[in-house]
Amino acid sequence: MNIAVVQNNPVFGEKYKNISDLLKTMDSVKAELYILPEMAYTGYQVVSKEEAAAIADKIDSDNIMRFVEWSKTHDSAVIFGFPEAAEDGKIYNSSLFVTPEGDRHIYRKSHLFYKEKIFYVPGNTGFFVNEWRGVKIGQAICFDWYFSESFRTLALLGADLIAHCTNIVMPYFQRAAFARAIENKVYIATSNRIGTEERDGEKLTYTGESVIVDPLGNYLVDAPSDTTGVFTAKIDTKLSRNKKLNDFNDVIGDRRTIFYK
Ligand code: ACM
Repeated sequence: MNIAVVQNNPVFGEKYKNISDLLKTMDSVKAELYILPEMAYTGYQVVSKEEAAAIADKIDSDNIMRFVEWSKTHDSAVIFGFPEAAEDGKIYNSSLFVTPEGDRHIYRKSHLFYKEKIFYVPGNTGFFVNEWRGVKIGQAICFDWYFSESFRTLALLGADLIAHCTNIVMPYFQRAAFARAIENKVYIATSNRIGTEERDGEKLTYTGESVIVDPLGNYLVDAPSDTTGVFTAKIDTKLSRNKKLNDFNDVIGDRRTIFYK
């Protein structure tokens, strides 16, 4: 499968324009699956719970339906982050996997980062994997990576590919992706935004450098830190389904779970 990570620079709160820019960028490079950043079309830095609620969307909102329609007309799937106004009245930091067949899979971020802990509710979906066109795809959002259990759980569920929507501000992940990929023998596709946001006197800079790493730790994509765009790579499930390192070792089978807490 030919997959893409999309790197953008949204303007905070300009949802219609940000979605138009994303779809136009995606129109320029063909892929079967596009992975977009966390909070891909809203911007990241809300300053109150009220503002988080005001920019959040329901999964059948007009904004979401633009991705759903695009997916159908382009026969490609899209996974993107957004602030979700859920049926339970809570606001989650979520990612939605939409397919041309009309399926929608919502993942709600398990590990909230920094002030997200004030503005959002911790996710209640847990980790899961969906198979689409022969590839088992797990969803994760940004800071989830810091907890190795997140990607391990997805690998144990059989994920070939972890679709990781991010707004990274710390300098660690792009190197850590190597370890997460080889320890689980999975593909990791991390889509990160670029640019800065300054709201309520606090400035955040997003590091770009979206990556696609294969199960052997090769960086198939290592995007720049300062340009938007679509970056593609081919994934091969034969690599992600072979958990052997050699004739004796298997990264899943050799786990000594009796010693782990
Ligand atoms: C993050 O979780 N957005 C760093």
